[in-house]
Amino acid sequence: MKILVLGAGTMGAGIAQVAIQAGHSVALMDVSIAALDKAKSKISSGLAKLVSKGKLSEEKKEEALGNISYFREYEGIEPVNLAIEAVTEKIELKQMLIKKASSLVKENGIFATNTSSIPISLLATSFTDPARFIGMHFMNPVPLMKGVEIIPGIQTSEKTVEEAILFTEGLGKIPSKANDTAGFITNRLIGIYLNEAAKAVLEGNDPVEVDRMMKVCFNMPMGPCELTDLIGIDVTVDMLNVMASAFGDRYIPNPLLMQLYNSGRLGRKAGIGFYRYEKGKDPECAIRRK
Ligand SMILES: NC(=O)c1ccc[n+]([C@@H]2O[C@H](COP(=O)([O-])OP(=O)(O)OC[C@H]3O[C@@H](n4cnc5c(N)ncnc54)[C@H](O)[C@@H]3O)[C@@H](O)[C@H]2O)c1
Repeated sequence: MKILVLGAGTMGAGIAQVAIQAGHSVALMDVSIAALDKAKSKISSGLAKLVSKGKLSEEKKEEALGNISYFREYEGIEPVNLAIEAVTEKIELKQMLIKKASSLVKENGIFATNTSSIPISLLATSFTDPARFIGMHFMNPVPLMKGVEIIPGIQTSEKTVEEAILFTEGLGKIPSKANDTAGFITNRLIGIYLNEAAKAVLEGNDPVEVDRMMKVCFNMPMGPCELTDLIGIDVTVDMLNVMASAFGDRYIPNPLLMQLYNSGRLGRKAGIGFYRYEKGKDPECAIRRK
């Protein structure tokens, strides 16, 4: 299948990787050269890791890498069966992009959005045929996480839902349907959890303790501050803002998240968030406490 992935950030790069691994042909598009370069090296090191673990042959890796092309603009991208947008979580940006990329989707093709929180029925109005528009919410990191929320909008056809389920199963994922309400199932729950964790830190708790408690008391593989850093402080704040406009004040990003956001401490991808990340070193707590 020919696939266009819009946005080569954390999620776009991961989606592109699992798609080429499954034998699809991918055009990965981003306005940022830095993002494209980073995605390119992330995808090739991700596949190399699978080879070293014996999960992928060298031949399959080369085949997969031959199935991806990188674009900074739409020119040169051939019509696709499926477009998946994974650009920054801003409603107007996504609407503009969906409109722009509509003509690149074949007549029976599907347009999917990886939005974390924006209602699918709202974004669907920007596509030429809302019956062929759907939410396909992958989890981070995409190559590792099995779950994908499949979110039909009010006009999404049954055929589109079936095709989205088949496609994600073909990537080795476990799709689950979720209602089209802001944040769907996963982010409605995780949004409150991450916001409250940051509030606990703001009130004086040590992020290391907060993370440790959630790991040892509830068997979470990762604590909430570590998880917010992995997701991205900006992605978390954008998601919470959308959730707040749908469900009220309890989702408003708390002042600590806003401080991290405003100072560019966006988490792992920026090298610093709740923790400081340096190659070859264990992450260190980066929140100065009174
Ligand atoms: N990070 C997560 O854990 C996570 C999980 C699930 C879903 N999501 C969702 O996935 C989407 C992307 O999130 P991310 O974490 O990959 O963000 P990111 O910041 O890592 O990447 C976003 C990319 O979009 C690109 N972009 C911005 N404007 C563009 C345009 N006009 N055309 C093409 N590319 C453009 C940026 O250059 C950037 O590389 C968001 O909707 C987010 O809510 C994120």
